[in-house]
Amino acid sequence: AGVDVETLRELARRLALEAGALVREQSPERVVVAATKSSEVDPVTAMDRASEELLRARIAAERPDDAILGEEGDDVPGTSGLTWVLDPIDGTVNYLYGVASFAVSVAVVAGPPDPARWTALAGCVHSVVDGRTWTAASGGGAERDGRPVRAGSPASLATSLVGTGFGYSPARRAGQARVLTQVLPRVRDIRRLGAAAIDLCLVGEGALDLYYERGLNPWDLAAGALVATEAGAVVTGLRGAPAGTAMTVAGPAPVQGDLVRLLEDAGADTVEETFTD
Ligand code: IPD
Repeated sequence: AGVDVETLRELARRLALEAGALVREQSPERVVVAATKSSEVDPVTAMDRASEELLRARIAAERPDDAILGEEGDDVPGTSGLTWVLDPIDGTVNYLYGVASFAVSVAVVAGPPDPARWTALAGCVHSVVDGRTWTAASGGGAERDGRPVRAGSPASLATSLVGTGFGYSPARRAGQARVLTQVLPRVRDIRRLGAAAIDLCLVGEGALDLYYERGLNPWDLAAGALVATEAGAVVTGLRGAPAGTAMTVAGPAPVQGDLVRLLEDAGADTVEETFTD
């Protein structure tokens, strides 16, 4: 049976809005870190878990044959060939500190659960505090709050505003800081807003010209990369590789290509350094 990407887009939107309402309305006055993951600065809160549980329950009820890949739980196998890729709170550190840039990200993809090999079908990024909601469907364009969005058209890398982000491991961060010394002098300015899913959507509406990050997880980029692509941006990795966990670079051509070359020259896809306090 054919897959109707617009139906999937609408479901992704409905799920993201419902989880967003939970996060917004039931946030405790002080957020407590429930655990840490990859390192001591990589937090998970009770709300990350509650939001993901809600999303998983809805998908199990409405799309029982689809697989689920989520940040905070075990992978659920499926039989339909479709996988829901969930980030219950992207920008958890912002959530923890009360900084407004965090989102629920819901995407549905076909093929293997690997951003370098899957085909994204539909997705939604819902910014929890202010309600901005970006959606995209493969071949169906990108929207914010129901209105089409387009990536910007920066004249050059030198005049581009560039978003980026950093991983949680000290060794990777040491390398990312070194790469930044190559990028920052060559662009208009850098933003580190703290939620990759929102950053990618901002590229899709031209509020950021470009965005790059090494080490994103599949759930950080699944929905946002589709929004950026459907908005006319190019989203790739380095050295001819597709966008993925090694590197994601998003922005309109040809300036996206200029950033790719700069990052290649800086060795941004192999940045891990030994780092000791
Ligand atoms: C993180 C955010 C951050 C990015 C990190 C991600 P999380 O996701 O998207 O902006 O720099 O690489 O891990 O942990 O808040 O879901």
